[in-house]
Amino acid sequence: MKKKSSQGNRNYKIAVMGGDGTGPEVTAEALKVLTASSKKNGFKLDLTHLDYGGERYLKTGVVLTDKEMAGMKKFDAILLGAVGHPDVKPGIIEKGLLLKTRFGLEQYINLRPVKLYPGVWTPLKDKGPEDIDFVVVRENNEGLYVGEGSFKNKGTKREVATQISRNTYKGVERCLRYAFELTRKRNKRKKLTLCGKTNVLTYAWDLWWRVFQDMAKEYPDVTTDYTHVDATCMWMVKNPEWFDVIVTDNMFGDIITDLGAMIQGGMGIAAGGNINPQGVSMFEPIGGSAPKYTGKNVINPLAAICAAAMMMDHLGETEAAQEIERSVMNVTAHKLKSLSAGKMGYGTREVGDLVAEQLMERSAR
Ligand code: IPM
Ligand code: MN
Repeated sequence: MKKKSSQGNRNYKIAVMGGDGTGPEVTAEALKVLTASSKKNGFKLDLTHLDYGGERYLKTGVVLTDKEMAGMKKFDAILLGAVGHPDVKPGIIEKGLLLKTRFGLEQYINLRPVKLYPGVWTPLKDKGPEDIDFVVVRENNEGLYVGEGSFKNKGTKREVATQISRNTYKGVERCLRYAFELTRKRNKRKKLTLCGKTNVLTYAWDLWWRVFQDMAKEYPDVTTDYTHVDATCMWMVKNPEWFDVIVTDNMFGDIITDLGAMIQGGMGIAAGGNINPQGVSMFEPIGGSAPKYTGKNVINPLAAICAAAMMMDHLGETEAAQEIERSVMNVTAHKLKSLSAGKMGYGTREVGDLVAEQLMERSAR
């Protein structure tokens, strides 16, 4: 499942898209940590900064051309900060940049770990890091996100708005395949939970369910389980320790991973990857551009740093990735007062410094 450097020699061509709001600030801290990691681990980073986002759109009217999107195929991976600009109508950048890249580069998996690090506050009483450690595999190219639908009698009292959830055998199969393989590779509880709504969405989830059942036969070592999406939310709060890997569709995955982010300590720490196992993947903090915190040195960069760690893991630099994660864990356990913006006890840049210092200290030992 790993993507290696296109040039060999552990020289990685990375497109860096800081994006909007606090995106560039958190991305800068992720790059600070990556630079430290590259020195220590002996890989090289060939960075190309792309100015795509709300600012450029306001100046030029361009969100992302097809050519620019195709141009991103030449990189080994993409590191994204955040999209969404307060002066741009909601949806334009999100659809035109983020979703266009996810779909255009066929990043059909959205991988979102939900892991409570030591020292991090969770709103779940009596739950600790040993209870909250699972991964959500969200289908990333289909479902309600395909943008199919129609209005009838728009603007009248007889209006009907339809929004289609498209689920193809190919799309469902490759998503489930990835999830089964990941469950095996994680080698934790080896349990894969399908999260759906078979009792109401009887076409879409019938397909998912059938493919899931069939594929399970190929993985006798993986325990399979099914929960409806509403119940999944309930168990994520009450018994998060039941989960190891959850696989679900695009819309449900969007919703349950915000809940997941909250139980792991908030948007300041939640990272994700948009993965094309055969192509170019894009890694991002899952929170938004937080315009009100922009330029104040208060936003938490840990999610962006964790996204960078996921990127290095994906590129085959497993040791570097684990080391970044351990450094983050050390900082959450011993330094930060809170993971919330403005309440960390340190500024954005200082948190980046702390993680980078941790990393270098480890190298001295
Ligand atoms: C996410 C975001 C996006 C999504 C938006 C910004 C289009 O909420 O990455 O979860 O819905 O996928
Ligand atoms: Mn979301």
